[in-house]
Amino acid sequence: MPLVALIGGQWGDEGKGRIVDALAGKARMVVRYGGGNNAGHTVVNKHGTFKLHLTPAGICNPETINIIGHGVVIDPKILIEELDSLEERGISTANLYISDRAHVIMPYHVLQDKLEERARGDNKIGTTGRGIGPAYADKVARIGIRAGDLLDQEMFLARLKPIIEQKNQVLTRFYEVKPVPLMETFLAYVRYGVRLMRHITNIHPMIQRELTQDAPILLEGAQGALLDLDFGTYPYVTSSPPGAAGACQGAGVGPTRLNSVIGAYKAYATRVGEGPFPTEIALDDPVTETLLQVGTPWAEVGTTTGRVRRVGWFDAVLARYTVEFNGIDTLAITKLDVLDTLPTIKICVAYKLGDEIIYTPPSSLVNIKRIDPIYEELPGWRTPTSHIRDFHHLPPAAQAYVARICELVGARLGMIGVGPERDQTIYAARIF
Ligand code: IMP
Repeated sequence: MPLVALIGGQWGDEGKGRIVDALAGKARMVVRYGGGNNAGHTVVNKHGTFKLHLTPAGICNPETINIIGHGVVIDPKILIEELDSLEERGISTANLYISDRAHVIMPYHVLQDKLEERARGDNKIGTTGRGIGPAYADKVARIGIRAGDLLDQEMFLARLKPIIEQKNQVLTRFYEVKPVPLMETFLAYVRYGVRLMRHITNIHPMIQRELTQDAPILLEGAQGALLDLDFGTYPYVTSSPPGAAGACQGAGVGPTRLNSVIGAYKAYATRVGEGPFPTEIALDDPVTETLLQVGTPWAEVGTTTGRVRRVGWFDAVLARYTVEFNGIDTLAITKLDVLDTLPTIKICVAYKLGDEIIYTPPSSLVNIKRIDPIYEELPGWRTPTSHIRDFHHLPPAAQAYVARICELVGARLGMIGVGPERDQTIYAARIF
């Protein structure tokens, strides 16, 4: 089972960390392929608990080659802090490689992100404020700085100078804030380049070599497919393709090489930031408190921004859509235990749009805000499930709920998470 992509199937925060951990232990190479430090997951293992934003999850295993692919946008300051902290705790980062083609988040990107959000007023996207959108925008506008550029000072300065001049026009004239200093920025980024030099390389031959040897490779996703620029609830999306196409592009592997695409889905749904959420449950509904897991250390609060997540019922219309456009063949359903106490559980199986019943999300924001979810109601199991490790030992109602999800979305079951600990997992299929 050599090449597997793990992607989020909803709006991010599906609990991919634990699955990545489990798979990373078996992988020869882990490639983080997209997003930036807008993502975050917690890795728990015998060395301790690590909150990683950019470093691939295989980092704790000295045998695993960890790659930050060119689809990622890197804030070098954040990455260096992460690497230093790993080293301080005895985790070697010698096996970490950064694509020299990966774009770099500059201080003006972070500034732009915050100023643009402020300017949007009521239409704000609710970005993480990490400069992600502006960095990807500059990549597409062909005025981005790439990791490899940091290693060639002369060329870097020559590229940076006109870019900063242009950025400063906008910053000072339109937003009326202080300009970004050229030399200070240049020198800081040269220092980052020096620190990261031993990691920055052309990753293409490395990945091709492992592919040729049929080594198990994990393409590690960040965010979720519904935040995709094309397929997500535009403009309430992130600025990269977090799905399977992005995995191929961001890691540099051809789509025919993928053996499996695993989609991670919570057994319900959450979203942070603004944007449509058809199955959202009102904050004052008693179910919300259950789903938020208020008062527990694993309450629904964003790993990166600390924002409380919005919660809702499992939306099988959106889940089938993400299965379809990503070619997801295997489901990793997380946090099933969170539903343990509910008397009834709803699954959205279709939408009503005016007089019409539809089975796929409308692309227009106006229409997606107008739809009414059509729910199927299933009985809850009202039994703890966290100790269970075998699918057939789950209460029949829990088995039926999971089976119904698989049937509605059209993919096989790979695993189920039944608690926050890594071993609180039910495996239903062999993945690597
Ligand atoms: P950006 O990626 O910071 O530009 O934010 C755009 C949208 O994506 C916002 O709604 C964010 O809350 C959301 N987002 C970005 N990264 C993540 C993530 O890792 N988990 C959940 N939501 C995210």
